[in-house]
Amino acid sequence: MAIVTLKEILDSAEAGKYAVGSFNVINYESVRGILDAAQLVRSPVILAIAQIQLDDVDFASIMNIMVHEAEKASVPVAVHLDHGLDFRTIQEAVRLGCSSVMFDGSALPLQENIRLTKQVVDYAHTRNVSVEGEVGEMGRGNGGEKPSMTDLEDAKKFVSETGVDALAAAFGTVHGMMRTKPALDLELLKRLHENVDTHLVVHGGSGLVLEDYRRMIERGIRKINYFTYGYRDAARALKTYIEANPDALYDELSFFIQEAFKEIFTGVMEAFGSAGQA
Ligand code: 13P
Repeated sequence: MAIVTLKEILDSAEAGKYAVGSFNVINYESVRGILDAAQLVRSPVILAIAQIQLDDVDFASIMNIMVHEAEKASVPVAVHLDHGLDFRTIQEAVRLGCSSVMFDGSALPLQENIRLTKQVVDYAHTRNVSVEGEVGEMGRGNGGEKPSMTDLEDAKKFVSETGVDALAAAFGTVHGMMRTKPALDLELLKRLHENVDTHLVVHGGSGLVLEDYRRMIERGIRKINYFTYGYRDAARALKTYIEANPDALYDELSFFIQEAFKEIFTGVMEAFGSAGQA
């Protein structure tokens, strides 16, 4: 009942000038903790599973948990495939109940990225599923490898020829742990928002400071993918808890981690301005 498309969530975010978090999940505990946070602060939320995670997590099992829990939620939830890499996995995601899919053709030449993304859009839109595409490539764990920033003209062409509902833009963020603070090209972000006719997404969204989120949202970011630092903080909380409670059984730890997720992601939703919007 509460599952909505990414487009619906982002249209509201654009109207209200805030961003919605897209959080990768791995199991029941993470799904439950994140949804509890969203309900506590009345925030829309995006539950995501990336194709690469499917090496370790069974797709149908995690989708059953995501869809079942999202349907019970009292806030709008999009169930999203993150970084889909091939058409077969996209079809499977739609079949299993995703209301949104990302096709990541960012490593391909532009024309090929457009061709394959358009194929995904044609497939998904007839099934009321939103599509996110990507132009420009982000690095991983900065300090060396430089992200290739999104080219404005490429982005305009990509969006008008594919009709994607959201575009992941590379303007300086990186996936994973950061050794140095990334340099964000906020001017590029502003120009993308002014010229590109779709919602803008940032990947590699964790590990930034409050002021960075404020500036990105002011310049048009409506979806923030946030993973590494949320899971790091949850792990740190668990370690501290185990040190203080060395005899705790696993069931107690499982409930603790759900609470930790709830607390951590509540703070993230507040930082993104999505708290109070559902
Ligand atoms: P971080 O792990 O760097 O927060 O990035 C998450 C992400 O972009 C998932 O697509």
